Amino acid sequence: MSNYNKLLNNLEFLKLDKIRNYLPNYLETIASKDIPFVDAMLDLTEKEIEFKNERASKIQVAVSAFPFEKGLEDFNFDYQPSINKKQIYDLATLRFLENKENILFYGNSGVGKTHLAVSLGIVAAKKRYITYFISCHDLITQLNKAHSENRLEAKLKHYAKYKILIIDEIGYLPIDKQGANLLFQLIAKRYEKNSTIITTNQMFSKWGEVFSDPVIANALLDRLIHHSHIIKIKGTSYRIKDKIDISETPDSTGKR
Ligand SMILES: Nc1ncnc2c1ncn2[C@@H]1O[C@H](COP(=O)(O)OP(=O)(O)O)[C@@H](O)[C@H]1O
Ligand SMILES: [Mg+2]
Repeated sequence: MSNYNKLLNNLEFLKLDKIRNYLPNYLETIASKDIPFVDAMLDLTEKEIEFKNERASKIQVAVSAFPFEKGLEDFNFDYQPSINKKQIYDLATLRFLENKENILFYGNSGVGKTHLAVSLGIVAAKKRYITYFISCHDLITQLNKAHSENRLEAKLKHYAKYKILIIDEIGYLPIDKQGANLLFQLIAKRYEKNSTIITTNQMFSKWGEVFSDPVIANALLDRLIHHSHIIKIKGTSYRIKDKIDISETPDSTGKR
């Protein structure tokens, strides 16, 4: 076997796929342009690193379990003027994550809470922060299951480790005392350690009812709100945007 083929095998063995792919053409360039060895190695290794980083980002986005992949660039801020666009883009710098702050999106159904939460999650996942999206209902189901199987502590640790945990739709379904208690334990574990993003359609003053227990609801809110960014969205649902437009547009007879 030629040294050239041995080298290709070595690159394959070391899983340096990009370098291996580039090498055949690259060798010609090096020769024709008289590129120094160090520069060539630097260039090749940078290509490999870039490729590996991109792949790791894609994997992190995929395992984050987002319900859809929509970015901030897909969000129409003109439609929802109560949202401070600058504040959202500021959050996308992820300083909140470094500071272990939370984000609470509050507003009616369809105003874009989940979209914005997901968009910020995607920014973090692309930067390879371990991120996870789950609905409040599914999260409590998982915690209940773990509790009944005597492995609650491990499950709490599992959910506590995410740099960003997005808990979607708190308050859409009532939560019983046991569920409230389990959720509280998780939020208490994450408090000042990692960032949590929540979306809710319920005013915080109503959380006592949602959680079937005002004391737990208060304790939980306390930990969520301390060091947090609260985004209140006042507006109409984006889901019925076109329907509203249609109903407000007079037809050819001039009637609505
Ligand atoms: N301002 C907006 N610009 C673009 N798409 C939006 C906007 N607001 C909501 N959407 C889209 O409308 C749908 C409902 O939004 P979603 O974020 O799920 O609402 P919520 O979580 O507040 O109920 C999603 O498909 C979302 O991408
Ligand atoms: Mg939602």
